[in-house]
Amino acid sequence: MTLLSKQGASIIATGSAVPELCINNHEISKVVETSDEWIVSRTGIKERRILNGINNSITDLATLAAIRALNKISMDPLEIDLIILATSSPNDLFGSASQIQANIGAYNAAAFDITAACSGFIVSLTTATQFIENGVYNNILVIGADALSKWTDWSDRSTCILFGDGAGAIILQSCLPDDKGILGFQLNTNGQKYNQLCLAYKDYYNTSNSLKITQGAFNKITMNGREVYKFAVSQVPESIEKCLYKLDIPIEEINWIILHQANKRILEAVANKLIINNNKFISNLDKYGNTSAASIPLVLDEAVGKQIIQRGQKIIISGFGAGLTWGTIAIQWKY
Ligand code: UT7
Repeated sequence: MTLLSKQGASIIATGSAVPELCINNHEISKVVETSDEWIVSRTGIKERRILNGINNSITDLATLAAIRALNKISMDPLEIDLIILATSSPNDLFGSASQIQANIGAYNAAAFDITAACSGFIVSLTTATQFIENGVYNNILVIGADALSKWTDWSDRSTCILFGDGAGAIILQSCLPDDKGILGFQLNTNGQKYNQLCLAYKDYYNTSNSLKITQGAFNKITMNGREVYKFAVSQVPESIEKCLYKLDIPIEEINWIILHQANKRILEAVANKLIINNNKFISNLDKYGNTSAASIPLVLDEAVGKQIIQRGQKIIISGFGAGLTWGTIAIQWKY
């Protein structure tokens, strides 16, 4: 049964921010045994931005991305009803969205974090859409921001070459149901494979007093790259097909596809499986690497800025990663 929505939701602005420090493959090859040739041919990544320095946090980047999105449409932050921050590398495990609320002066907004790694932006945009379609809120700021460089094992060549830091933001606004820009979604989780990609909690004994309580810390990122690769190539096309089937939209009608920017070979394999021309896939992987929850809104903001994405066009965005989680959103661009 399909429930009728009270209102539709459309993206009305985008913004993004990346750190200044740029580290290319040659520099990484001084730290681990690898080469520019290996990294480019196996992943498509040439360089990545890394957050560095004291008092320079992912919350600052997320704040900047949010301000840039607000400025594009001269929106007063007090008009924002809700802020959703997709991140798996917050400044504060209790949540960083509230810091962003204060930073941008969105004092009327509720704010919370969503943790879903590289699917975080898809999960957050889907969540935001529900609040709007139910008629609860009218303006929602959704931010995808991650600094996985903080949690990368810089001695593990199979992961440290991949990740970069960044933030991307969108503003979602209510509209008439018939004018909606967020057309539909499809979400999935396979928790049986959670250990294929983890940033896991570990216990240690605190021996500093007689209580000897076990306390927590986090390990560095571990990934079974081949398994995650196979999962992405098999599941992402299926998710896209399911999403479009529910909406009765033929894949030929899709103008652009933006996948989570993990690996150029994954993008090509998904294009082959869907029998879609590679040039419909927008990518900036070469410049930023895998920025986790930020990767899709970073591409969106860049593509809108370059006027690649045009009003009225249909777009698929699809995220995948730790959990394992994956999902797709179909969008019609409205501005
Ligand atoms: O964002 C969440 C989603 N994440 C992903 O989607 C990541 C998915 N996985 C991948 O993108 C790829 O699996 C990687 C890029 C991580 C690895 O590429 P691969 O083609 O799957 O390489 P592999 O793990 O099968 O390793 C092939 C060889 C190995 O050597 P042997 O065993 O064949 O001698 C590795 O030790 O390449 C070696 N290798 C490297 N060599 C040079 C692994 N990393 C490197 C490296 N430089 N950085």
